[in-house]
Amino acid sequence: MLGFELSPPILLSATVLLGTVILRTIWLRLILKNQLPPGPRRLPIIGNALQVPTERAWEVFSEWSKQYGDLMHVDAMGQNFVIISSPKIARDLLDKRSAFYSDRPHFVMANELAGYGESFVLQSYNDNWRKQRRLVAQDFSQSSTPRYYALQEKETRILVRNIVDNPASLVSQVKLTIGIIIIRVTYGYYVQSENDRILSTSLQAVENFSHLITPGTFLVDLFPPLKYLPRWLPGTGFFKIADVWRKTVFDGAHAPFEWCKANLETGKTLTPNLCATIIQEAGGELPQDDQEKLIWGAGSVMGGGLDTNISAALTFFLAMILNPSVQAKAQSELDAVVGTDRLPGIADRSNLPYIRAIIAEIFRASPSLPLSIPHVVRQDDVYDGYFIPKGAVIMPNVWHMLHDPEVYPDPHSFNPDRFNGLDAAMEEVKDLVFGFGRRVCPGRYFAEGTLFAIIATTLATCNVLPGLDEHGREVMPEWAYTSGDCVPEGLQAAVEASLGTG
Ligand code: HEM
Repeated sequence: MLGFELSPPILLSATVLLGTVILRTIWLRLILKNQLPPGPRRLPIIGNALQVPTERAWEVFSEWSKQYGDLMHVDAMGQNFVIISSPKIARDLLDKRSAFYSDRPHFVMANELAGYGESFVLQSYNDNWRKQRRLVAQDFSQSSTPRYYALQEKETRILVRNIVDNPASLVSQVKLTIGIIIIRVTYGYYVQSENDRILSTSLQAVENFSHLITPGTFLVDLFPPLKYLPRWLPGTGFFKIADVWRKTVFDGAHAPFEWCKANLETGKTLTPNLCATIIQEAGGELPQDDQEKLIWGAGSVMGGGLDTNISAALTFFLAMILNPSVQAKAQSELDAVVGTDRLPGIADRSNLPYIRAIIAEIFRASPSLPLSIPHVVRQDDVYDGYFIPKGAVIMPNVWHMLHDPEVYPDPHSFNPDRFNGLDAAMEEVKDLVFGFGRRVCPGRYFAEGTLFAIIATTLATCNVLPGLDEHGREVMPEWAYTSGDCVPEGLQAAVEASLGTG
């Protein structure tokens, strides 16, 4: 028996409230079901599964948005996708309604079979994610990153010297330098060469990740029951891939952490670094559960910070080869502000608006994650009269937003002057490129520091020139990217011969 009695007015209010909630749910589900955002015509059962692109999806979605608008709905085998093509809608939903737009999709292949489920990039919006994020966010906050400036500057100077000595090694040297920096600040481990196992395993794990989160790569994500098939059955090769990738991501996250911990005592672990700081704050030993969170949190830092930064840095070299006048203008700014007696440092950034504009233009022209990383909405929602069902995967088409000719005239030309030196306009680009709401990239300020150091050091010391073929003719690269690969197409060929000192 209840220990208290409900008075008639309370009972009535509760009934009315309950009735309203039930009616609202029924109304949303039944009446608004037909008011999903517009999208390509769906076939029975499979929906748009056959139309969902796996290559350069952002360009296909961009075309579709011309017909269906800035809020589009796509259905693949019953899974709802909502594709956003305007910054306003992205902010209204992913920023302002972040309390319920901050989940991640659950990929059968990535989360369950290939072992990425513990990494906080893919974690559901839950306590585990919150704890991992807190560990990482404080170490890479805007106020903490200056402690890494000296490292970022030193490593980029070594980078520039190495590519001047051997221009053909540009792509591998950039990967190596970004790897050295990120692994050094995460684990205090200094990568010695591009063949270093800790670096190569991490790069492999990141490459696998980009395939895993591309919708349509694995059939088992579209038909989850496939995961119950016996492994000997033909067509179940995805199990073998999952086994290999699971080991790669496990080793990628655990080996450098174990190294960091084991070498803290011997002094080999270079400090400060993310893992050492947290282990030391805990008195040398973390409870097992916290240690696991740190391992996967740190692994996500490497995952988040490798390809994205590599892609942006390589885009810089590509843009300079194709736009010599931009390069010359930046060099004049460096000469005027920094002079020729010393190399520029990250602290000079506030006095170098044109270099800042080049960085914003790199992000605008070739966002490292053109479709960002998808969010998932946790409850039914209505926006602008359209029904957005609980569980829908929300994909902001950042590439489209940054190529809108109304906002960025002649969007395919590389033109840092389009910002008129206005930091607010540059910030708008960065706010889109680094993601949304509670999932916004925690490595943003750190990434910007590395990129600035690479750009300013290169331009202060070199002319970035196209390579020459065997007949002495310049090899000009195309402004094009391959999906899932952070290396601009043709860049390698174009730098085979040339990065001259100026
Ligand atoms: C040019 C460089 C970078 C770009 C363009 C970039 C972009 C992004 C984007 C778009 C997201 C998804 C945000 C969202 O879901 O709305 C993200 C998430 C993330 N980034 Fe970055 N990132 C960069 C560098 C870095 C660096 C250097 C680190 C590490 C220090 C890092 C760590 C992460 C992590 C851990 C997440 C997952 C956050 C979460 O799920 O809560 N990123 N990044």
